[in-house]
Amino acid sequence: MSNSWILSPSLLSADFTRLGEQITALEQAGVDWLHVDVMDGHFAPNISMGPLIVEACRQASQLPVDVHLMIENPERYIEAFAKAGANLITIHVETGYHPYRTLQSIRDLDCRPGIALNPGTPVTAITQLLPLVDMALILGTNPGFSGQAFIPQMLSKISAVRQAQPNVLIQVDGGMNAETLPAAFRAGANVFVAGNAVFKHPQGIAGGVTALRALL
Ligand code: DX5
Ligand code: ZN
Repeated sequence: MSNSWILSPSLLSADFTRLGEQITALEQAGVDWLHVDVMDGHFAPNISMGPLIVEACRQASQLPVDVHLMIENPERYIEAFAKAGANLITIHVETGYHPYRTLQSIRDLDCRPGIALNPGTPVTAITQLLPLVDMALILGTNPGFSGQAFIPQMLSKISAVRQAQPNVLIQVDGGMNAETLPAAFRAGANVFVAGNAVFKHPQGIAGGVTALRALL
């Protein structure tokens, strides 16, 4: 792992006909975590993957599995994702009535809890929860799809979280590439999710990882 920042490629952009090979390629390219985007077709306008894919990641790799739940009622599924082998589980503050309880249940299952914010949600919505979590996730695009453009106004949210909680991991997810990543780092982010920038790079997965690693 690089000392100062973590790269967590989003499997949403992977070729699912060759998922095992792609995970091996990520590992060989030196990524830190595997980011799994879970969408239920309600909270996010897309349906993606569930605990089975987390289990497949766990079998294919030793890397920490970083699960981003873009689903309603996340509390119902925490245990299934923990059992499947998740290491980090991030829920959205816009979902569920009792985030304190859900974040605590993530920790009780020996996973690291994270709290995520949609682009339209202000940082004040999570201030109260920051001492409870290991990571805050700032979405750089609206949830649902890879390959969208980073919304530049999200940079000030990253700085606001960094100011509120100096030691928390800050993950930025959506629209990260060679142009946008350095500014997010300067604003205070230290965990970067990248879908298309890794999987759709002209020189393949290794080329995409190398290009991002070279930035910082
Ligand atoms: C958005 C997902 C992201 C997305 C990132 O709903 O949470 O993880 O797949 O993909 P890129 O990096 O292509 O924006
Ligand atoms: Zn994500």
